[in-house]
Amino acid sequence: MEPNAAFDEYERSAVAAISAAATAEQLEAARVEFLGKKQGRLKDLQKLLGQVAAEERRVIGQRFNEVKTKVESLLSSRQKELDRPKRVIAGIDITLPGRTPKIGVLHPITQTIEEFKDIMGRFGFTAVEGPEIEDEQHNFTALNIPAEHPARDPLDNFYIAAAGVSSGGPVLLRSQTSTVQIRTMERTPPPIRIVSLGRVYRPDTQDDTHSCMFHQMEGLMVDRDVTMAQLKTVLALFAKAYLGEDVKVRFRPSFFPFTEPSVEVDMLWGETWIEVGGAGMVDPNVLRAVGYDPEAVTGFAFGLGVERFCMRRHEVRNIRLFYENDARFLRQF
Ligand code: PHE
Repeated sequence: MEPNAAFDEYERSAVAAISAAATAEQLEAARVEFLGKKQGRLKDLQKLLGQVAAEERRVIGQRFNEVKTKVESLLSSRQKELDRPKRVIAGIDITLPGRTPKIGVLHPITQTIEEFKDIMGRFGFTAVEGPEIEDEQHNFTALNIPAEHPARDPLDNFYIAAAGVSSGGPVLLRSQTSTVQIRTMERTPPPIRIVSLGRVYRPDTQDDTHSCMFHQMEGLMVDRDVTMAQLKTVLALFAKAYLGEDVKVRFRPSFFPFTEPSVEVDMLWGETWIEVGGAGMVDPNVLRAVGYDPEAVTGFAFGLGVERFCMRRHEVRNIRLFYENDARFLRQF
């Protein structure tokens, strides 16, 4: 055979045999056949080399070395391939990186609520709960909000039934956690020191700081000689505990049917005072309505917006972000 054709043929069949070798034995057989020292086909090529004319020898010799090196390196890389543990076992590529499970986090509002309970717990306030579906007695009447009061306006509340199963009267989604003040005092004699955290509902126009559902922390302390100064101290200490020592809190005179005197509570956020809730001394009418003696005990109460505090702590400028369930937002907490 013409030497060049012989080299080509050798190369082609060596490449085919080595690539086709599926086991170490088959690869060894290919090695013996094509590169074997004693009678491999390389030997035949070498013999051919001896027959070519002297002037052609250099070129053909180069070609010989080229083919030999190529087949040798192909053999060793196929060797490595066969030595490597199997990638795919039972249809599963075991060399792929594993999928990291996504671990969720508690919702920022839930985290805030837990922290609020913790802080207030240190001040001696026990966390209690109340229902979100309420009757007028607990949402209004016992809170000294008379029948004709505008706070009862259907346009400002989510009434859900004209006659509740247990109350007989209208039923609504509570518009404030102050309902829990009443429910607690109804079943517990003084002294009282509780907080209650949960959802409240108001058909407000939604904007960056208003949502028709949000969370409040109600606080109530009733005992002998409870004072406005104590209320102020508790709220200031609470705000500092959650937002840091430098937070500024101010009280503005206000009105709520269930407290007298009443204040609105603001905190400074940057340059702006923002309202975070209401508070005051429990109105004697409220104490009387639950069977307490206003001559024997006094109390303070407050209701704070949970979202507003959380927003200031984390510089969240839009309350709606909390309810959109966008994982990119929620993952940050
Ligand atoms: N319930 C009031 C509100 O939702 C806040 C408040 C609570 C005011 C307790 C005084 C005392 O706006």
